[in-house]
Amino acid sequence: MSARSITKKNSLRGEITVPGDKSISHRSVMFGAIARGTTEITNFLEGADCLSTISCFRNMGVAIEKKGDRFLVRGNGMQGLAAPSGTLDVGNSGTTTRLMAGILAGQGFTSVLSGDSSLNSRPMGRIITPLSSMGANITSINENGCAPLRICPGTLHGISYESPVASAQVKSAILLAGLYADGNTSVTEPSLSRDHTERMLQSFGASLSTTFHSDGRATTEISPCEELYGQQILVPGDISSAAYFIAAGALVPGSELLIRNVGVNATRAGFLTICENMGADVTLLNRSAEGGEPRADILVRASGLKGTVIEGDIIPTLIDEIPILAVMAACAEGTTVIKDAAELKVKETDRIDTITEGLRAMGASVTPTEDGMIIKGAGNPDKNYAPLHGAHINSHSDHRIAMAFAVAGLVADGETVIQDSQCVEISYPAFFETL
Ligand code: S3P
Repeated sequence: MSARSITKKNSLRGEITVPGDKSISHRSVMFGAIARGTTEITNFLEGADCLSTISCFRNMGVAIEKKGDRFLVRGNGMQGLAAPSGTLDVGNSGTTTRLMAGILAGQGFTSVLSGDSSLNSRPMGRIITPLSSMGANITSINENGCAPLRICPGTLHGISYESPVASAQVKSAILLAGLYADGNTSVTEPSLSRDHTERMLQSFGASLSTTFHSDGRATTEISPCEELYGQQILVPGDISSAAYFIAAGALVPGSELLIRNVGVNATRAGFLTICENMGADVTLLNRSAEGGEPRADILVRASGLKGTVIEGDIIPTLIDEIPILAVMAACAEGTTVIKDAAELKVKETDRIDTITEGLRAMGASVTPTEDGMIIKGAGNPDKNYAPLHGAHINSHSDHRIAMAFAVAGLVADGETVIQDSQCVEISYPAFFETL
């Protein structure tokens, strides 16, 4: 187990890039694998999760090679995957598991998906239920609603599914199975989750559309598809990775950071809205929409932050950024309330627990709730709360907890040690070097 020591800093300055977007990197390999022709991916995230996706598709006969700064996926076509030689190892990756389950449901062979202990305790009933109602033959091998999952050949029918959660993994699993169904498939979610699947599948030649309801629900419908076609994918920088440096730039006095080429798709950019609500000095420059995904350079300067309320439809657009938002809240003036975020409990760790544990270890005032938390910022003018102090932080092997508390260590008095810090490899292998 590795550990990293962080101490208080003054004035972070510089220009950085962050690695490619994790969600988009996964999808580029998956869609490329079932397309005809070659998909050429630039700025692919070589983090452990996306490498799990690559190794699963290699195990099903897809040739994937790295050439210079690109990854080339030689697609086998919609029906061209081969039966894997053994269990498909999905590692720590929920995206690999749930999206691949949608694809595997449409194949003519049996497969088994299994990951590490965290992955194998995350809920899979959320995909088993809708995929089964499409006719998929998918079971939780231990009958506990979790992976390992066994997926046997089945005949897929189109369904209209009302999802209880705004989850892009659930939505994408159903849409991908919908490619193999005998009629149109639609998914309605309580509010729109990240839409990378929709954007990218359309560019590969699939036919789909999204309609918005007056109550905020969103319905995405897909038609069955005979063939997808390989594409050139330019992966933008991951806003979820940029968030740590935006927070660091905002929190560390005297800082000015420019983060180049960050994806700012509105279904992912709730973090930027909350930064603005908290009074952070964040400016988007050089906006473009290259490759079907909006992107920008992000300039951040240190500023005082104030507490805010984070709730409702914005939650799915910043769900992965809540650990770092909680750190920002702990350093802000006033109280921050996070609610409607029960999904935090089913991430790589129960993040309501792991955020609370870490913040308390650093002296912050945090009250966990059923669907979020209440954080009283150290900047509170009545001085009831001491500033953060350094602590030993157990990341519980959760990459986002490790990175969020590393940033907290930049403003805490004394030394902060991030235990089990190598877990940043999941989404940001060079995080500590860049920091
Ligand atoms: C992801 C969707 C989100 C997010 C995860 C990546 C994706 O999960 O938390 O890190 O790539 O579709 P849910 O769909 O479970 O909300």
